[in-house]
Amino acid sequence: MRAAFDMGYTFFDTAECYTGINPDGTTAYNEEAVGEGIKGIRDKLILCTKCGVRFTDAGMEMDSGPAAIRKAIEGSLRRLQTDYIDLYYQHRIDPKTEPESVAETMGELIKEGKIRAWGISAVNEEYLRRAHAVTPVTAVQNMYNMIDRGTEKLFPVLEELGITLVSYTPLAKGFLSGRYTERPVFNHPEDNRGGRYQFSEEGFAYYRQALDLIRTTAESKQATMAQISLAWMLSKKPWIVPIPGTRSPERMQENLNASDIVLTPAEVKALDDALDKMGLVDSMSKRSW
Ligand SMILES: NC(=O)c1ccc[n+]([C@@H]2O[C@H](COP(=O)([O-])OP(=O)(O)OC[C@H]3O[C@@H](n4cnc5c(N)ncnc54)[C@H](OP(=O)(O)O)[C@@H]3O)[C@@H](O)[C@H]2O)c1
Repeated sequence: MRAAFDMGYTFFDTAECYTGINPDGTTAYNEEAVGEGIKGIRDKLILCTKCGVRFTDAGMEMDSGPAAIRKAIEGSLRRLQTDYIDLYYQHRIDPKTEPESVAETMGELIKEGKIRAWGISAVNEEYLRRAHAVTPVTAVQNMYNMIDRGTEKLFPVLEELGITLVSYTPLAKGFLSGRYTERPVFNHPEDNRGGRYQFSEEGFAYYRQALDLIRTTAESKQATMAQISLAWMLSKKPWIVPIPGTRSPERMQENLNASDIVLTPAEVKALDDALDKMGLVDSMSKRSW
């Protein structure tokens, strides 16, 4: 994290439910690692975390009721060793809680100074409009990348309401970088990449056409494929913020340098048209979360 900050990264994303298992069997919280990583630089960052999701043996459980959010924020503040969160997301829609209720709780947290702004992850238009009417939403964090463009349906409403799009999984979990020449197999029980459509036998073969397109563009721009994948969305709207994840300082620098690559509106449109022809716009229906 310190290497990222020294390069110029200032926007960090984590979540209450980003956890693993320590060697002694206790829960390892990503927020605790982030809390350590930001010591001494906290006030120079935009720190984002999320609430409302829990992983159990039965799968993902959602709870965005007022009591759950209030409990979650206290835990996140403690683990992150801070007294405020810059951007606090409802991680997933909770069917048991109305958007107005979530927005009201978030509004109270803003008034109390515990959070500076709030956002919603994996949201649709109706839910967003209802929540925004109660407490203005600053950012939506949805999946968005060159093989998963379903979020483009939200662009008009984001533009209208002045809401930022934070694109998660902007490299389709590394797939768009072209690093996998053979279909990878992810065996670790805590690694969820194996369940993604692009890494299934069918998806890996089907999406290759997108990789060919990105590779050709990368060659013409003297850039890497990961950089083109990021530059493509950065060139679309000034309010799109990709959050690529990596464990490597070299790739961090490579991804940061994507902001120097300019794709003209005509070049972006040509890429979109080619992706449309491949039938990749609606990949949402094929992949699993
Ligand atoms: N709101 C949500 O529900 C939600 C869901 C998923 C993710 N997120 C957020 O979004 C962030 C990023 O998403 P993600 O990790 O799912 O997917 P991603 O950023 O699309 O891909 C990450 C993968 O790409 C590889 N990678 C990164 N840069 C690369 C490069 N330049 N060349 C080649 N490979 C590269 C990384 O490998 P190495 O580590 O080996 O570099 C890693 O395996 C997460 O960290 C999380 O904060 C949010």
